[in-house]
Amino acid sequence: MSNRKILVTSALPYANGPIHLGHMLEYLQTDMWVRFQKQRGHVCHYVCADDTHGTPIMLKADSLGITPEELIAQVGKEHLADFTAFGVAFDNYHSTHSEENKYFSSLIYTRNREAGHISSRTITQAYDPVKEMFLPDRFIKGECPKCGAADQYGDGCEVCGANYASSELKNAVSAISGEKPIDKESVHYFFNLADFTEMLSDWTTAGHLQPEVRNKLAEWLDGGLQQWDISRDAPYFGFEIPDAPNKYFYVWLDAPIGYLASFKNLCDKKGLDFDEFWAKDSKTELYHFIGKDIIYFHALFFPAMLQGADFRTPSAIFAHGFLTVNGEKMSKSRGTFITARTYLDHLNPEYLRYYFAAKLSAGVDDLDLNFDDFSQRVNSDLVGKVVNIASRCSGFIAKRFNNRLSAEFAEPELWAEFMATNEIIAEFYENREFAKAMREIMALADKANRYIDEKKPWLIAKEEGKEAELQAVCTVGLNLFRVLAAYLKPVVPTLSYSAEVFLNSEVHGWIDELEPLLDHQLNDFIPLMTRVEPDKIAAIIEASKENLEKTVAPVVKEKQFAPIADTIDITDFGKLDLRIAKILKAEAVEGADKLLHLTVDIGDETRSIFAGIKSAYSPEQLEGRLTLVVANLAPRKMRFGLSEGMVLAAGDGNGIYLLSPDAGAVAGMRVK
Ligand code: 2FM
Ligand code: ZN
Repeated sequence: MSNRKILVTSALPYANGPIHLGHMLEYLQTDMWVRFQKQRGHVCHYVCADDTHGTPIMLKADSLGITPEELIAQVGKEHLADFTAFGVAFDNYHSTHSEENKYFSSLIYTRNREAGHISSRTITQAYDPVKEMFLPDRFIKGECPKCGAADQYGDGCEVCGANYASSELKNAVSAISGEKPIDKESVHYFFNLADFTEMLSDWTTAGHLQPEVRNKLAEWLDGGLQQWDISRDAPYFGFEIPDAPNKYFYVWLDAPIGYLASFKNLCDKKGLDFDEFWAKDSKTELYHFIGKDIIYFHALFFPAMLQGADFRTPSAIFAHGFLTVNGEKMSKSRGTFITARTYLDHLNPEYLRYYFAAKLSAGVDDLDLNFDDFSQRVNSDLVGKVVNIASRCSGFIAKRFNNRLSAEFAEPELWAEFMATNEIIAEFYENREFAKAMREIMALADKANRYIDEKKPWLIAKEEGKEAELQAVCTVGLNLFRVLAAYLKPVVPTLSYSAEVFLNSEVHGWIDELEPLLDHQLNDFIPLMTRVEPDKIAAIIEASKENLEKTVAPVVKEKQFAPIADTIDITDFGKLDLRIAKILKAEAVEGADKLLHLTVDIGDETRSIFAGIKSAYSPEQLEGRLTLVVANLAPRKMRFGLSEGMVLAAGDGNGIYLLSPDAGAVAGMRVK
């Protein structure tokens, strides 16, 4: 096996909130992969950092009455403590608000500027005259220009799903001061992404991306690449742009450069060679684990900026899906928005490591944490299969043989079988097919248990003169247990370490050359892992609801009715084709908080409609019911697909009420 040199990163968490289980999916996936690479004997560095810049962090510090530096220092410590408790073993955890990051952000920017990839022009933006700052879209609130819903943000309506410019919001106010924003001009700097169209077309199809990600990228490339606005005006918490006083790098420019910065910081501490990993001609491997929501930044902007600044580009980007809990998006009110700390207060982190491993594949599918399934898998696999082997054999070895194993191994074929699986398991780990690796390992655990079932040491122990046989059977069992613990080391390192302490022998490196422990002295058995206790899960859910109660003040909204619209005449009204529609199918839309995807029957045809009614209706409530649809509305291309009509609902900012006809109406009838 040749010795590889690998640098691995996970996405940098924002320093404005706690780590939650959604984050943990990524860090645990990455950590397991890194631990595997290290166990294989490769040189593998795993770096990360807090993502500390931007308006939300600046405003949060402001609201807490502390400086952004104080906020990010405090949050950074909490993040690292959570990661460490989950066994995530970074080689370096740094901050994007660091000297190294300032240096590399400026360097990458100036090299791109010198190569002609930066331009500047004046743009007009919303400005808060009280707070004296430009307002990012999500800090502007008003009424949706399409449906009139109150309290919508400048980056899109969560009720009707419309996309619009923040300048189109009606009665817009600054979400910070409540003041009406004014239009103000300022010079912005842009990265000319389109200069890299050819390079990105090649790069995105050259094996650096998962197939489903590559297809998404092809769509974006076909649509044409736009200039990327990389500057923000003061006040902004970030780095000032060289030669542009009072202009700051947009947080997403310096965030991925934080990967280089954290690694440089590690190099300086450990005497490693930075250029070996980042120079254009680097022969080392570079991998970024990310969530599927930030592919655009990592697979377009980042490689282009690196290329434009004469650095190497990533070997691969590994995107994963989102975490759902009990089948739904994590929800604060249901108690399923679980922070890492709340989990750690109640349950063993290795349960979650194993559960994620048992369900993770190399794709971008979402992963569901179902607590019944979680308990069942941990109890039946880790405790019931793996740890049970040690429990079944250790007592006899301790009491009858003073913790000493036999001098010979009675089942060489079984041993050979356990060894022969090593390359299959390694390949699954290498390809991030953790679920498949776990299945192989559990199949071996089943074999070990079957062996013990067949030999029945508890009966042998009762027979006279069968001491050697008893010792031999338990020696086989404990050695097989040792192999399983070694295979599971990337996933449950603490369990594996406890097994090594009990077995009085460490496993170094991969499992291919392992020999059985014979005539070997064990330490006293130590409890390795207990079953998941159901009341602990209930306590997590309860504590997560309590967190909500503590942190979120109840919001009682005033009733807000939209003003009566301009008068229309009967001809205008006659243009509307309103139909009775039957909802055939209703589904949640991945990545959309408020939308449901409806398939409706309007008589002669079925239509696909996106409706912002998720907060009021669950899909099951809707299927089969009648409602009203504007059937001749021009189809609208929404972020999630084409919407071919609109269902009619009333709302007052607090609730949403779908309209329905009286009994007797059928799908297709026209409303007159
Ligand atoms: O989406 C996020 O949470 C970002 N903080 C991730 C940044 S990853 C990298 F680019 F820094
Ligand atoms: Zn709307």
